[in-house]
Amino acid sequence: MLERRFEVESGGLDGDRSELISMVRGAAAIVADPTVPVDDELLEAAGPGLRLVANFAVGYDNVDRAACARRGVLLTNTPDVLTNATAELALGLTLAAARQLPGAELSLREGAWSGWDPARYRGIELSGATVGVVGLGRIGLRYAQLVAGFGGETLYTSRRRKQDAEADLGVRRVSLEQLLTESDVVSLHLAASPENRHMIDAAAIASMKPGSILVNTARGSLVDSEALAAALSDGRIAAAGLDVIDGEPSVPQSLLDAPGVVLTPHIGSATYRSRDAMAELVAGNVIAVLGGDGPLSEVSPPEG
Ligand code: GLV
Repeated sequence: MLERRFEVESGGLDGDRSELISMVRGAAAIVADPTVPVDDELLEAAGPGLRLVANFAVGYDNVDRAACARRGVLLTNTPDVLTNATAELALGLTLAAARQLPGAELSLREGAWSGWDPARYRGIELSGATVGVVGLGRIGLRYAQLVAGFGGETLYTSRRRKQDAEADLGVRRVSLEQLLTESDVVSLHLAASPENRHMIDAAAIASMKPGSILVNTARGSLVDSEALAAALSDGRIAAAGLDVIDGEPSVPQSLLDAPGVVLTPHIGSATYRSRDAMAELVAGNVIAVLGGDGPLSEVSPPEG
């Protein structure tokens, strides 16, 4: 879609910062993915002709929004088209963690399966469980709809009350403290910001229900990995399903060694349908803005 209309410079996936800086010189639009820090330096390198940063993700914590706003550069993201894919992965990680699938599979592959065993490989059932959804935005809501099928109770936190969801799904809004204390499964669905960095820290984890499960398909920065690894090793937390890890793609050894962790490499939106739709939305935003029309999915500038 873009090559038919524009001169496209692509690359940088394995490149270093200096490669990115030289790639963006003179660009009218930058298409970035969540691993590319779009900061003042990159915007400056692009120069005054830059009109748009089209982020290939719904999250945009990689982008300095204030710096974009100062320069009059628009920012777009890819909402909606990845909601279902990401919620389904969160459900998959919830089930995989609850039933200890990676550990069970590994023991079979390593030849440690000696036959049906009444006591081994036991996990937790979602049916009747209390599920805590931290952040009832688009993805959190879809996850809440999916887990509703298991017939437990769903708690949520959100800046605003979601009356439609409460009426449709019977979800109940509580404080984060109450959610952590009462939930058998805690699933994170929040946009990352400097303010919520490590919101799931040692103290938050200590307040979680013993034997509960933590799922994170949002951003790694929300969770203190070392505190989580310690709680998993102590057995205070039964399991965790993590698609995002603070400092990714590097993964702390303590998490790799901790029992009961299911780890995936940030693949929440990685379905054919979702990634194609994300690509189309990204290209559609570039075409619209450079063609003089309004963006299709703008991220509003920060207030103030
Ligand atoms: C991916 O992480 C996204 O924010 O879309």
